[in-house]
Amino acid sequence: MEIVIANKSHGVYATIISETIDESAKVRGTGIAKRTPEYIITKMENGNAVIALEGDVFAGFCYIEVWSHGKFVANSGLIVHPDFREQGLAKKIKLKIFEHSRTKFPDAKVFSITTGLAVMKMNNDLGYKPVTFSELTDDQSFWNGCQTCKNYDVLQRTEQKMCLCTGMLYDPSKKELKGKKQIKEKVFNRLKHIKESMFLKKEKK
Ligand SMILES: CC(C)(COP(=O)(O)OP(=O)(O)OC[C@H]1O[C@@H](n2cnc3c(N)ncnc32)[C@H](O)[C@@H]1OP(=O)(O)O)[C@@H](O)C(=O)NCCC(=O)NCCS
Repeated sequence: MEIVIANKSHGVYATIISETIDESAKVRGTGIAKRTPEYIITKMENGNAVIALEGDVFAGFCYIEVWSHGKFVANSGLIVHPDFREQGLAKKIKLKIFEHSRTKFPDAKVFSITTGLAVMKMNNDLGYKPVTFSELTDDQSFWNGCQTCKNYDVLQRTEQKMCLCTGMLYDPSKKELKGKKQIKEKVFNRLKHIKESMFLKKEKK
């Protein structure tokens, strides 16, 4: 498996990446911001993406977004093709894009919003901490990216203060505390359930 910083030559994979992200979101039944092949190609051309290939077969992808004039960066659009899941590939891609982000944007805070336990676990391992949305970028173009998510009405209703996603932040100015806590699956599922009943039931009334 080759995991590299993507460039222009990887543009041929943009369509399959976009389709795999869309299909996975449908299967999970959760919301996700839409990524067009054109958008993915721009990320590759700017050296802001990581791609995993098994020979010439697409296996995984993730990209960097820059917000608030470089004060924040996000590692977004993480996707592993179903054929390559549960083999530790997402972890390797996350590490590669995180290290690339820290090298390219050393002073930026790195953040993520996600509903996925797998992503939370990986972020936690990299030193991210859960935070409220007020700690994240106030760059409106970031939040506009949520418009294609099926839960966007929740974000609007709460005036962008909270949603089904959890915000997580790596702040390079804060020293890492020893003894990192593991994320407990039971606690995660309980919190997810509470959030869903708080935010989604209102729709059915
Ligand atoms: C989420 C996804 C990227 C994981 O890829 P993967 O290569 O199978 O993940 P890895 O094998 O590297 O596993 C990383 C960690 O997540 C955990 N994990 C993986 N899939 C999981 C799942 N479906 N539910 C809960 N935990 C999961 C693993 O156990 C591992 O945790 P550990 O370090 O405690 O062992 C992949 O399933 C995917 O592309 N899903 C669809 C897109 C998506 O959900 N993207 C995230 C958007 S926020």
